[in-house]
Amino acid sequence: MSKRIQVSDLDIFYGDFKAVEQVNMEIEPRTVTALIGPSGCGKSTFLRSLNRMHEVVPGGRVSGKVLIDGEDLYGTGVDPVAVRRQVGMVFQRPNPFPTMSIYDNVVAGVKLNGGRMRKAALDSLVEETLRGANLWEEVKDRLNRPGSSLSGGQQQRLCIARAIAVKPAVLLMDEPCSALDPISTLAIEDLMQKLKAEFTIVIVTHNMQQASRVSDRTGFFNIAGTGKPGKLIEIDETSIIFSNPKVPATNDYVTGRFG
Ligand SMILES: Nc1ncnc2c1ncn2[C@@H]1O[C@H](COP(=O)(O)OP(=O)(O)OP(=O)(O)O)[C@@H](O)[C@H]1O
Ligand SMILES: [Mg+2]
Repeated sequence: MSKRIQVSDLDIFYGDFKAVEQVNMEIEPRTVTALIGPSGCGKSTFLRSLNRMHEVVPGGRVSGKVLIDGEDLYGTGVDPVAVRRQVGMVFQRPNPFPTMSIYDNVVAGVKLNGGRMRKAALDSLVEETLRGANLWEEVKDRLNRPGSSLSGGQQQRLCIARAIAVKPAVLLMDEPCSALDPISTLAIEDLMQKLKAEFTIVIVTHNMQQASRVSDRTGFFNIAGTGKPGKLIEIDETSIIFSNPKVPATNDYVTGRFG
């Protein structure tokens, strides 16, 4: 069985501080994996290690392996910029380029990658991508308005459009709905269901209902105490994690009996 992502013996450091220890994880293509766990257990740190965003922090480094489609992201000579094209990311706060138009936001990544396309090809990419992001109907008459003119939920779908326009293999999402109202949250969840036909999605969420609604598999991270590294305690099918996990701490966490 081919794996899209294979993580082995991954340790993640901020300088001397080991924030995450010994993660082993395999992720199949076209699935949604939810990562859950208490604050500070290293979910965001782990997510950023999957597209080499972690090393942007001074002192940020990893040991171990992360394979995407069999290629080691941390192999010698691998260009982190190329990795980030292959593994896109959507953040907690919608961060469209505020003064750039909706249209230009969608194609920003494509242009950054040096893609030169004719206007007609760009137009159809913008339409196809915005349709893919469930945003087209809401913005088709105002593509030249700034990204900041959209509602928060629309801005987040615009950021998803920007991320998928470059056709990454993997889409990482760090609490993508935490700044959104319930309706916009459901819109993003619907979108994730649709996107998984094409992309492999890894999402960090504090919302247990969201994890159970959107994901195929769920990984529970935990931390033994302040200053200790976070660990992946258990990863399994989402229905198992929420109904019959193997580790008692997982059960305590998903049933809200924690700390
Ligand atoms: N830039 C940084 N420099 C040093 N330490 C950091 C940095 N970012 C995070 N950490 C530390 O790494 C550990 C894991 O943090 P991380 O943000 O990954 O947790 P998290 O599980 O995403 O938490 P939350 O649910 O609150 O977002 C924490 O101890 C945190 O203080
Ligand atoms: Mg986080």
